[in-house]
Amino acid sequence: MIINTELEYKGNLFPGKVRSFSQDVDKIYFHTENGVILQITILRGSVIRFRYATDNNFEKDFSYAISKDGARGYSMLEVEEEIKSYKIITRRLTIQVDKADLKTTIFDKEGNVICKDDWGFHWEQSYEYGGNIVKMSKAAPQGECYYGLGDKPMHLNLKGKRLENWATDQYAYGKDQDPLYKSIPFYIGMHEERAYGIFFDNTFKTYFDFCHERRNVTSFWAQGGEMNYYFFYGPDMQEVVTRYTDLTGKPELPPLWALGYHQCKWSYYPESKVKEVAQKFRELQIPCDAIYLDIDYMDGFRCFTWNKEYFPDPKRMVSELAQDGFKTIAIIDPGIKIDDNYWVYKEAMENDYFCKRADGPYMRGKVWPGECFFPDFTNPDVREWWSGLFKELIDEIGVKGVWNDMNEPAVMEVPSKTFPNDVRHNYDGHNCSHRKAHNIYGTQMARATYEGVKKYAYPKRPFIITRSAYSGAQRFSCSWTGDNIATWEHLWIANIQAQRMSMSGMSFIGSDIGGFAEHPTGELYARWIQLGVFHPFCRTHSSGDHGNQEPWTFGEEVINVTRKYVELRYQLLPYLYTMFWEYAAYGVPMLKSLVLYDQYDLQTHYRTDEFIFGNQILVCPVQEPNSKGRRMYIPKGHWYNYWTREYVTGGLEKWVDADIDIIPMFVKEGAIIPKYPVQQYVGEKRIEQLQLEVYFKLGAKEVSKVYEDAHDGYDYAKGRYSLRTYTFTGKDNEVILQQHKDGTFVTEYSSIKLEFVGLPFTIKEVEIDNVVVDFNSLEIDLVQQTIVVPKDFTEIHIIG
Ligand code: NOJ
Repeated sequence: MIINTELEYKGNLFPGKVRSFSQDVDKIYFHTENGVILQITILRGSVIRFRYATDNNFEKDFSYAISKDGARGYSMLEVEEEIKSYKIITRRLTIQVDKADLKTTIFDKEGNVICKDDWGFHWEQSYEYGGNIVKMSKAAPQGECYYGLGDKPMHLNLKGKRLENWATDQYAYGKDQDPLYKSIPFYIGMHEERAYGIFFDNTFKTYFDFCHERRNVTSFWAQGGEMNYYFFYGPDMQEVVTRYTDLTGKPELPPLWALGYHQCKWSYYPESKVKEVAQKFRELQIPCDAIYLDIDYMDGFRCFTWNKEYFPDPKRMVSELAQDGFKTIAIIDPGIKIDDNYWVYKEAMENDYFCKRADGPYMRGKVWPGECFFPDFTNPDVREWWSGLFKELIDEIGVKGVWNDMNEPAVMEVPSKTFPNDVRHNYDGHNCSHRKAHNIYGTQMARATYEGVKKYAYPKRPFIITRSAYSGAQRFSCSWTGDNIATWEHLWIANIQAQRMSMSGMSFIGSDIGGFAEHPTGELYARWIQLGVFHPFCRTHSSGDHGNQEPWTFGEEVINVTRKYVELRYQLLPYLYTMFWEYAAYGVPMLKSLVLYDQYDLQTHYRTDEFIFGNQILVCPVQEPNSKGRRMYIPKGHWYNYWTREYVTGGLEKWVDADIDIIPMFVKEGAIIPKYPVQQYVGEKRIEQLQLEVYFKLGAKEVSKVYEDAHDGYDYAKGRYSLRTYTFTGKDNEVILQQHKDGTFVTEYSSIKLEFVGLPFTIKEVEIDNVVVDFNSLEIDLVQQTIVVPKDFTEIHIIG
């Protein structure tokens, strides 16, 4: 097939020969003889944007996904012209652009091909809608693997799949079902241990084909808009994710309580029921920080109203719950009931804030309240108005977080489950149809909600949950994986989805623990809570159709398992908070699939079940009934079984015992794991002491960090945080622990309890900051191998 002379093949059009080339600072333009322009922008040495125009015409450059400072900066670049191609040289990459057909090849500094066009950019005229169906195809070398793309409920490695991005309300979805609620058009490719990423920033319906149609080709295309993608080079997969997250934005730190345990159901009402559930948690001493009000708290499902029969005095109830440590979270949906006596509806009508069909009528659709109109959240004025609606809920009533649901947007009783394509949107001044705005609608709703909650929660931090999301939503909100089912298969899916969301830049994620639809057995619930406490967002939720899903519904054994794991989560809060800080500050994914953790170990490329929680804890859920344990892969290196303290060497599959109260869990040698005492809710107790579990490692230095601050508010942004960096060095008869402290926050505790695991000697001498300490003046336990030391030491020697 010779496509370049004909420029058309099976309805596809292709760029012609390059006619001219020009450079404008960090942008390089290639014009072809048939009106195609390729604009290449060098954002960083390893972050390159590719944008293609046809008919010599770019659209106005606008993106909801890119964070304010994501695209800033300028990086060194040189352009060389050769006989057949141009070469753009950055600090990390060389991009070759062929003069004959505009195809690109990206090389690393050693000359390895990282990513190469197959057909490259091509397009089809969209005779149905106008504009182009823009397409890109890349050569897929043998052995290349693919990861990412958000909430897809299938094997982590996407090779062989074709996937679609079109946010969809998928009640009780199944394994492999596509699409679901989110559209994250970002994937990671990895070949010969070198990883790169591609973010196709196009909000139309997009498709990704990973060697499904053709064995050697990976392609992606959109039903409209521009071929506009960002290329990120690693070669480390984690770097790919952090670069993507840098571009699309990082979240703020949530309040620490948001990392506690949350209890939800559709729905807890009336007030007495909410209180009863809350009290039961305290009675059973299962820690819990948040309780949810699903749609029935409203008056006829009208957002920003209350059912006064069920909740006669919401302010009092919320404050009473707060006295007992419970934060109240309320749901807010996008559908606004058509009702002339309803103030939100009236305000929106008066200001012309609702979405309209192409020919003028309002976008009318059925949701919980019956017939509704829907605010156009892509209009900045609408977002501003919407954010103001939270004043009463947050500022006056004291609700602490808002849960945005049904924002795909979901519409009932229509086959498409959403708006028709012709609905008009403002798109921040770039008027367009729903075809373009659909995938971003939920994110813009979450953004407006975030701005409102933030404004009224100030000086505290906001907390938002969204069901639908497009790339960049992580700046505003956390998320859950929607309406799953209480089955063992869904436990597997939840594990995959959380890992995949994490490598897709949205780490603050969790599933409905126990399953939303249907009812779990006690055993399934127990296994699910064991996994759920290792997901950044940890919430039990259910439809309530088939019985209750509070931990006590399942009897004594499950209560005990739940308590044990929720307590573990509360103990690990400083570890989890430090993980979050790394994510918020540097974009480091909080959950790391094994491939993300060690891509250089081929065994990891197809693993799905095991993951690393933070940087140092390996977790692998039990996903089958009646199990006494399971086989799992232990990544290379040395690990301690958290429960038995057994020292294991990784790089192999291994049977791990795990009775109903055990989830296989290992800690990396050399790790220092911070813990707080168990609390029933964040802030219940003064933290009198920080506990550090020190896992012995022979030899090389190992670094661990503990980030702390006031756990809410914004003082941390002014430097009032405490970052402890520990360096561990282990010898046959000595341990050296160095501590470096940054930030001006003064933690409540004055001492640290060191608890050694795997110490190969009995402690004979302790030296703190060059002074040998008399054992009589120390709180030391030679059997348990624990020592209490003042919190601000610089260097400790433990000698055997
Ligand atoms: C659908 C959501 O996914 C679910 O979590 C919620 O309980 C129901 N809507 C009712 O609001």
